[in-house]
Amino acid sequence: MAPRPGPLPGGGDDAERRRPGARGMTLEIAGGDAQERLGVALARILRPPAVVWLRGDLGAGKTTLVRGLVRALGYEGTVKSPSYTLLEPYRLAEVDVLHLDLYRLGDPEELEYLGLRDLLTPRALVLVEWPERGGDLLPPADLDLGLEHLPGGRRIACAGPRAGAVLRKLREILAGDSRFRL
Ligand SMILES: Nc1ncnc2c1ncn2[C@@H]1O[C@H](COP(=O)(O)OP(=O)(O)OP(=O)(O)O)[C@@H](O)[C@H]1O
Ligand SMILES: [Mg+2]
Repeated sequence: MAPRPGPLPGGGDDAERRRPGARGMTLEIAGGDAQERLGVALARILRPPAVVWLRGDLGAGKTTLVRGLVRALGYEGTVKSPSYTLLEPYRLAEVDVLHLDLYRLGDPEELEYLGLRDLLTPRALVLVEWPERGGDLLPPADLDLGLEHLPGGRRIACAGPRAGAVLRKLREILAGDSRFRL
């Protein structure tokens, strides 16, 4: 078992905790299995249409989170990051998950060629790794997750219009699981 992440900052008033980017809007996750579990929990919470940005360095755990989410929604195959194809669509029973990895996007204009605009239907759950490379053509985030490394784990800063509601539900769903601090 990986060492637990360091302690969460204490208290702070409620308004401070809700401010996007505030330390109270973070969660900490110990281990890759827990990172997938977080994706499973998000699959229960997020309703399409929704756009989730996954920001963070190489190896920050973005694909791991998507893997948990996509499999929880019923996909039984292998979930790999679309590093070269840039886009991997999963047409599932209730939603269409669009997994983008824009690390190798040469120019934001290439998003046009991917046909993203036509894929943004009311059934779409869009998960974007490296969104900062997408420029203005990328739809804005309903949930903006910033992932960073901790010794033995990861910290995720949550922002965007749905961040507060999503975190509230995550706290309910993941309560009692010692791999999480939230
Ligand atoms: N919370 C976590 N604690 C410890 N290890 C983790 C955690 N989340 C993911 N990992 C591990 O980090 C490694 C890299 O994860 P992943 O491929 O998901 O990163 P990524 O952010 O998608 O990277 P890239 O930008 O290269 O696509 C994997 O081995 C995964 O198991
Ligand atoms: Mg990845």
